[in-house]
Amino acid sequence: MTALAVVNCRQLVTLAGPARPRVRQELRELSIIEHGAMLIRNGVIDRVGPQTTLTSQFPSDCEVLDAGNRVVLPGFVDAHTHPVFAGTRVDEFEQRTAGATYEEIAAAGGGIRSTVRKTRAASEDELFQVAKRRAAWFLRSGTTTVEAKSGYGLTLEDELKILRVIRRLNSTGPLRYVATFLGAHEVPDEYRGRASEYMNLVIDQMLPCVRREQLAEYCDVFCEPSAFDVSCSRKILEAAKALGFGIRMHADQLTHSGASQLAAELGASTADHLEQIDEADIRALAKAGVQPVLLPASVYCLGRHKYPPARQMIEAGLAIVLATDFNPGSSPTPSISFVLSLASTQMQMTPAEAITATTINAAYSLGRGGQIGSLELGKRADFVMHDCSDYREISYFVGIESALTVYIDGQSVYRRHCDG
Ligand code: NIG
Ligand code: FE
Repeated sequence: MTALAVVNCRQLVTLAGPARPRVRQELRELSIIEHGAMLIRNGVIDRVGPQTTLTSQFPSDCEVLDAGNRVVLPGFVDAHTHPVFAGTRVDEFEQRTAGATYEEIAAAGGGIRSTVRKTRAASEDELFQVAKRRAAWFLRSGTTTVEAKSGYGLTLEDELKILRVIRRLNSTGPLRYVATFLGAHEVPDEYRGRASEYMNLVIDQMLPCVRREQLAEYCDVFCEPSAFDVSCSRKILEAAKALGFGIRMHADQLTHSGASQLAAELGASTADHLEQIDEADIRALAKAGVQPVLLPASVYCLGRHKYPPARQMIEAGLAIVLATDFNPGSSPTPSISFVLSLASTQMQMTPAEAITATTINAAYSLGRGGQIGSLELGKRADFVMHDCSDYREISYFVGIESALTVYIDGQSVYRRHCDG
């Protein structure tokens, strides 16, 4: 494989820094190389630096990607998505315009359960095909790795079906996937009123089987009184931990239930959502080193106004992450640039903080901080050329896709026609 030189980067936004998730002031330090260049060999970053000092070291036969004075960033790492499901929920979307709430729709049998019915009826191949289309949406948004949850099957076979689709998506590429088992996403129709029996099914059958087949690295729970309360969630997550799963949680999204405290107690990798979190919860997460994954697009798409308190979290030293929560109900968007916009306009995060939260910090939250999330020597060459000359434009312009070319492992995986 010939080497690839990336030249003429107006800003090469490397995110180089300490080999750990970034906190406080570090969130604003993007380690930008003005007029930078990079050399890639065998899919790995071999050299990074100012163009003037690097060009003499490029092999004469290397392939050249001219960034044309644009911005080059690491590929976004989307650390919370639900990308494998059948159908849409456009009917519920319309009902919400007439005043129905997400919770009312769910209580009446819609919501997650409506997607579960459609997903159960779909074959593994059908799910693979629809998910493949969504993979293309992530790539064109400049995302190169996604965390992907199951959770629309809710029987052993249907959860395995979804996780096998995720495994196949990852192995056929080019988008990278990190799988999370979310069997405790909702109590399915056939177990209504018998949540603890369903919980036992998750603990006794699903978790050991998912582990045996090595279909997921993480286990997640929708910890919410209307789904799995704190005591149910604790039992599921303790069982998952004992089997060697990492822990992620849907926590304190709709109600303040003690979910974040549980995440801290269990030493979870992440606590996600956190719209209803208070100061004591923030302190507990900080003390336990749990990374918050904030999902402002779900707040926006549900027409709500209470965003998680990002500034307080940053002040408390939390290694903040931002993600899309791509799913058919609360957040039908694969766009990290939209999330960057929301982070700045609704949560007062600077564009630099938001970039850190969607690259290196997101990578660390998935246990991959040593491989992806920054453009540093020895890391995978997952990078994106954006059609702008200042990285802040990615957050500033809204509703426009800035990614022009996307590379994973040093291979071109997406290229948009540039019309000016
Ligand atoms: O993260 N809250 C639970 N899970 C998803 C929503 C899934 C759905 O509505 O289908 C979330 O918002
Ligand atoms: Fe979610």
